[in-house]
Amino acid sequence: MDNRNTNVNELEAAKQLEIINELKVSFEQEYEKTGKRKTYHIETFGCQMNSRDSEKISGILKQIGYVETDTENADFVLYNTCTVRENANNRVYGRLGYLGKLKKSHPGMLIALCGCMMQEAQTVEKIKTSYRFVDIIFGTHNIFKLAELLQTRLDSKRMVIDLWKNTDMIVESLPNDRKYSFKAGVNIMFGCNNFCSYCIVPYVRGRERSREAQDILDEIKGLATDGVVEIMLLGQNVNSYGKNLETPMSFAQLLIEIEKIEGIERIRFMTSHPKDLSDDLIDVMKNSKKICKHLHLPVQSGSSRLLKLMNRRYTKESYLELVEKIKAAVPDISLTTDIIVGFPGETEEDFLETMDVVKKVGYDSAFTFIYSKRTGTPAATMEDQVEEPVAMERFDRLLKEVQLSSAKSAGKDEHTVLKVLVEEVNSQDPNLLTGRLSNNLLVHFPGESELIGKIVEVYLAESKGFYYMGKLI
Ligand code: 5AD
Ligand code: SF4
Repeated sequence: MDNRNTNVNELEAAKQLEIINELKVSFEQEYEKTGKRKTYHIETFGCQMNSRDSEKISGILKQIGYVETDTENADFVLYNTCTVRENANNRVYGRLGYLGKLKKSHPGMLIALCGCMMQEAQTVEKIKTSYRFVDIIFGTHNIFKLAELLQTRLDSKRMVIDLWKNTDMIVESLPNDRKYSFKAGVNIMFGCNNFCSYCIVPYVRGRERSREAQDILDEIKGLATDGVVEIMLLGQNVNSYGKNLETPMSFAQLLIEIEKIEGIERIRFMTSHPKDLSDDLIDVMKNSKKICKHLHLPVQSGSSRLLKLMNRRYTKESYLELVEKIKAAVPDISLTTDIIVGFPGETEEDFLETMDVVKKVGYDSAFTFIYSKRTGTPAATMEDQVEEPVAMERFDRLLKEVQLSSAKSAGKDEHTVLKVLVEEVNSQDPNLLTGRLSNNLLVHFPGESELIGKIVEVYLAESKGFYYMGKLI
């Protein structure tokens, strides 16, 4: 990104801050009159990108003077939507019906829809005709404009729709409401250029854009000063970070710079595309003291024939070779993956190749999905769409194989002492704390809440499959 763009981004941020302040003044005046603060509630669907976006939305609303509430009976309700699979869309429509009824008994309630689903023209048409009570619709590219859209809605009393097809703007300096004080997600890039043939993401999140390394480093330094010890670098395909920057920089180089930041103890990242995972990155992971021993490496299918149709640009063999290379360099790495069953044309033989990969890799866990047809993607019009009962039956078999695989790798650290980042008081037993190992597994152990946000040493006394029971050292 060049300097001109940097200036445009800064000007936009200044403009939005001005609107936020104007709204803040009028919200404060209303509070003085009524003695009541306006409330907001965000429902977030989908992935970590959406969660991060919701933190931005929340930051803007809090700055304006809204207070968060955990029910949908709020003055401003926002749905940050996902469209990666059809059932994500259905969930939103289902809840929207309920929200429409709630609005009738809550005078002045505002409803906003944003996120990936809104980037699809047919969705917006449907909402315009069947869900007239929605007040604001925006998309994935213009979250930073929320205050402006809210102001327009308050002034005009009409449905406000603002959707961008694409953007090269990156406005990241607005208020932010982080969910945790000690760990934070950091966007390093937006969008995706891969066009896997089943996937809607490139159409709704736009082309790949990397943030300037200096901006990322400054943000992380700020987080470290604020007490953050763990960061999760976010992007649809972090391994191709930096390719479109004026001075290109690789993801491996970025990690080396991040590692130098004092106060940051743990670095995670998501998601890695196998085709772009470089030897340099493996080297950096091997030598790093801070990068967590966990790699999420979506395989999607074990059949080279299907991988080609999926436009994944690797084969079963090259994926397995990559896994071996990683395991050799970082022996205690925990590998997780995403798998789709029932992709168009998938035969029993293709499916068995996928089962074989699961056996060979030994994943710690896997997210398994039944293929969902997304209109507008190449796979949606492919022949031989797999019948639902066949896909369901394969899905069940796959799930069993995945469970076997995770059961095998679970417990391998039993009776050792490992570092744990303490995250919260256990939700079932207030005498226990819950924390996370470098490999992402949970550990529960007796302790005081003062330890939340600290990295402590814990003896892993007993493996319970997907988590450990431990003792503080
Ligand atoms: N159907 C099923 N699963 C999908 N994913 C993406 N698109 C689809 C689809 N059309 C899965 C992939 C991806 C994860 C985030 O969602 O496995 O890695
Ligand atoms: Fe979708 Fe493929 Fe991009 Fe991932 S890499 S977001 S699966 S197109």
